[in-house]
Amino acid sequence: MQKRTLGNTGLKVSAIGLGCMGLSYGYGPATDRQKAIDLIRAAYERGVTFFDTAEAYGPGLNEEVVGEALEPFRDQVVIATKFGFKNGVPDEGLDSRPERIRQVADEALKRLRTDHIDLFYQHRVDPDVPMEDVAGVVKELIREGKVHHFGLSEAGADSIRRAHAVQPVAALQSEYSLWWREPEAEILPLLEELGIGFVPFSPLGKGFLTGTIDANATFGDKDFRHIVPRFSAEALKANQSLVVLIGEIAREKGVTPAQIALAWLLAQRPWIVPIPGTTKLHRLEENLGAANVELTGDDRTRIERALATVEVQGERYPASLQARVGR
Ligand SMILES: NC(=O)c1ccc[n+]([C@@H]2O[C@H](COP(=O)([O-])OP(=O)(O)OC[C@H]3O[C@@H](n4cnc5c(N)ncnc54)[C@H](OP(=O)(O)O)[C@@H]3O)[C@@H](O)[C@H]2O)c1
Repeated sequence: MQKRTLGNTGLKVSAIGLGCMGLSYGYGPATDRQKAIDLIRAAYERGVTFFDTAEAYGPGLNEEVVGEALEPFRDQVVIATKFGFKNGVPDEGLDSRPERIRQVADEALKRLRTDHIDLFYQHRVDPDVPMEDVAGVVKELIREGKVHHFGLSEAGADSIRRAHAVQPVAALQSEYSLWWREPEAEILPLLEELGIGFVPFSPLGKGFLTGTIDANATFGDKDFRHIVPRFSAEALKANQSLVVLIGEIAREKGVTPAQIALAWLLAQRPWIVPIPGTTKLHRLEENLGAANVELTGDDRTRIERALATVEVQGERYPASLQARVGR
């Protein structure tokens, strides 16, 4: 797999990473631990060197699985994790107080079975803690060798600038995909200016862009999508036209819709590294195949034209979660 560099800090990772969240959290019951470990190792064997987790996924459980899976080849991989929620539980609210960040780092190091976190993201901007204080404590953790690079997630432009002035930010991780293009307006130009890499999360639209979620799909209580307006029955029905268009383009190119969704992201900037998540080996292989899908200028124009004809229905987050985003 080709490598990409996230921003000016020189952090080199595989062009496509693995989002590990869904193995323990967010999309229903956790995957059996050994199966999850096998999947993460299968990704490494296929060239993935960038693995994404967070204290909040479990809480702690996902980091433990990632740590055990990657222990045999720890030096060959980049592990990204995140701090920022009270007790590691998103529903309990935000907590980026410096003492809490230190505590999460120490606990994550144990769970990940390592002596350093390659990339430590603030999961959400905390309005009660000045960004300078957050960046300051991560800077200290970097000096101490516990952390190698600093990242932010879903942060707005002002927060990114303030953080970067204290401790250079290696990467921003925010949602970006064929059906959520907000970062294009202000954030991507800012990242280009500051030399910060970009890691799109939910690059497959939480599964929707792959064409495998039809208008009649329903989601269980443990599946986060059951509270997401964009996955309501009406929105799923209305948004099928997007999937039809992506499917047509994929068929003509002899690839899959998931591969179009990922190749499109890779084609946006050379410092973009998507982290699709899956619990299944055949889908992992399909997703990694996107690194070899080249979109021509004509392909990209066709995709742009197709996207322009569809008005996506439904918010990407319910109001309670939207309130935490992008300050
Ligand atoms: N920073 C943040 O706030 C934040 C928020 C969300 C996610 N993330 C990170 O980003 C990663 C990826 O995001 P995500 O998991 O939300 O969304 P995603 O990667 O867009 O989609 C994952 C979903 O798509 C399905 N899927 C994957 N590959 C597929 C394929 N080839 N064909 C059909 N279905 C496929 C998966 O189901 P199966 O398991 O059944 O394949 C899963 O339900 C997460 O693992 C996490 O590490 C970060």
